[in-house]
Amino acid sequence: MKPEKVLAGKLLADLIIQSYNKMGCDALNVGAYDLSLGVDYLRKKEKSAKFTFLSGNILDKHDRNIFTPSVIKIVNGVKVGIFGLCDDKLKLAKIPGGNKFKVVNPLAKAEEISARLKKEGADYIVLLTNLNIRYCRRIGQRGMPIDLIVGSSKKNRISLPILVQETYIAHVERGGKSVGRLDVSFLGPAGVEALPAALRYKGKTVGENLFLLNHFFPLKIAMADHPEIGSMVKKVETKLSRLQQVKATKSMTIAGSRPAIRPGDSYVFAKTCAKCHPERYQRWLKTSHARAYQSLVKQEKHFDEECIACHVLGFEQPGGFTDIRQVGNYANVQCETCHGPGRLHVAAKGEEKMIKVLAGGEMCLVCHIDERSPEFDLETYFHKVCGPAAGKKK
Ligand code: HEC
Ligand code: HEC
Ligand code: HEC
Ligand code: HEC
Repeated sequence: MKPEKVLAGKLLADLIIQSYNKMGCDALNVGAYDLSLGVDYLRKKEKSAKFTFLSGNILDKHDRNIFTPSVIKIVNGVKVGIFGLCDDKLKLAKIPGGNKFKVVNPLAKAEEISARLKKEGADYIVLLTNLNIRYCRRIGQRGMPIDLIVGSSKKNRISLPILVQETYIAHVERGGKSVGRLDVSFLGPAGVEALPAALRYKGKTVGENLFLLNHFFPLKIAMADHPEIGSMVKKVETKLSRLQQVKATKSMTIAGSRPAIRPGDSYVFAKTCAKCHPERYQRWLKTSHARAYQSLVKQEKHFDEECIACHVLGFEQPGGFTDIRQVGNYANVQCETCHGPGRLHVAAKGEEKMIKVLAGGEMCLVCHIDERSPEFDLETYFHKVCGPAAGKKK
C-alpha cells in the first residue's frame, strides 16, 4: 500500500474509534474494511477503544480467537448477548499479515456462539455481521436463538427489516448515510394488543411480547454536527486534504498527454457553447451539474482522487482534466462531459457530425452509480437535466 494511503487509513481509524467512544458505542464487528491495515494494527488500536472489537470466526492458525467472540451487556435489567461474524469470503491475500489468520464458516460459529450465550443467561441475542442478506436469512432459517441480526453488507439493497422464523434481520444503510434506530420494547401480549394499529403495522411483533420498530434517519448535510465530533472530523479532513495536495504536487497528471479522440479536437468549455445554444446553457446553469465542483470544495474533498472523477470535465479523457491542484476551466459536469470535446464542432460553425449527439441516458450511469446516486431513475433524472422533451427524438 502507498504510504499516503496508510497514513490516511490511520487518521481515519483514530477518528472512527474516538468518535465511537464519544457516542457510547458498545461493540464493533470486525469486517473487511477494518482489517485493511492488518490484524496486528487493529489489535493495537483496540486498546484505545472503550468498546469491544468482536469476531467469532476470525481465528489464528491454532483455532484461537483473535478478537473477543461475544459480550453480554445488561441494558435496563435485560441481559443482551452480542456477537460478531465476518464474511468468510474475505480476501486474506489483500490484508497485511493475512497469512497469519483465517475466517471460518459463519454458520457453524453462529450455532455455537448463540447456544453458548443462551446458556450464559442472555435474554436477547444480537448478531452483528457483514454477511450478505441471503446468508443472514440462512442463519434465520436455522432457528437459532438469535433475536436480531444487524447486517452491513454493501450488497444488501434492503434496509427494511424482515422476519425469518423468530429472527429479525435489519440493516444499516450503505455508505454511512443514515443512522438506524431499532426500538425494542418488551410489551407483553396485552401491551402489543393495546398498540395503535398504525404503529403495529409499521413495527413487528416477535414471539409473544416483543415489539420492534425500525427507523432510519438520513444524515443530511444541513444537519448540525455534534460540536466535538464535528471538529474532530474537520481536523482530519484538513489533514487528509493537505496529504492529497502533497501527493498531487509529487505525481499528479491524469491522462494529460494522451492523444485527442479526433485529431485536433479538444475541450472549449460551457461558456463557448452558450454563444450558439443559449437556452441549453441557461437550463444547464440551473442544474447541480453546473455546481458539482463547488460541492466538493464545500467538503474539502476537491483534492481527493476518490471524489474528483465525476465532479469535473473529462477526467481521464484525452485533453480532459489533468491537474488536481488547479482545476481551471475543468470544474463541474459540463456540456462536453456528455457531448464530448467541441472544438471542431465550433470551428465548423456547428457542424452536427462533429459533436456527439445523445439520445438515451446510458452515459449517465458512468457517474450515477448506485453508491453515489442511489435514487437515480433514468426517466425523472433525464427530464430534470434535459427538459420535458428529452429522449423524444426531434
Ligand atoms: C461526469 C459524471 C456525470 C455524468 C456523466 C452525469 N452526471 Fe448527473 N450528476 C453528477 C454529479 C457529480 C452530480 C451532483 C452535482 C452536485 O450537486 O454537486 C449530478 C447531479 C445530477 C442531477 C441532480 C440531482 C438532484 O436531484 O439534485 C440530475 C437530475 C442528474 N445529475 C442527471 C443526469 C443525467 C440524466 C445524466 C445523463 C444524461 C447525468 N446526470 C450524467 C455527475 C454526472
Ligand atoms: C462515480 C462518480 C462519483 C464519485 C467518485 C463521487 N461522486 Fe459525488 N456525486 C455523484 C453523483 C452522480 C451525484 C448526484 C447524486 C444524486 O443526486 O443522485 C453526486 C453528488 C454529490 C454531492 C451533492 C449531493 C449531496 O449529497 O449533498 C456531494 C457533496 C458529493 N457528491 C461529494 C462527493 C465526495 C466527497 C466524493 C468522494 C468521497 C464523491 N462525491 C465522489 C457522483 C460521484
Ligand atoms: C448530463 C449530460 C448532458 C449535459 C451536461 C449537457 N447535455 Fe446536451 N444533451 C444531453 C442529452 C442526453 C441530450 C439528448 C436528449 C435531449 O434531446 O434533450 C442532449 C441534447 C442536446 C442538444 C440537442 C440535440 C438534439 O438532438 O437536438 C443540444 C444542442 C445540446 N444537448 C447542447 C448542450 C449544451 C450546449 C450543453 C451545456 C450548456 C449541454 N448540452 C449539456 C446530455 C447533456
Ligand atoms: C458557432 C455556434 C455553435 C457553437 C459555439 C456550438 N454549437 Fe452546437 N450546434 C450549432 C449549430 C448551428 C447546430 C445545428 C443546429 C441545431 O441543432 O441547433 C448545433 C448542433 C449541436 C448539437 C446537436 C447535433 C444534432 O445533430 O442534433 C449538439 C449536441 C451541440 N450542438 C452541442 C454543442 C456543444 C456541447 C457545444 C460547446 C462545446 C456547442 N454545441 C457549441 C452551433 C454551435
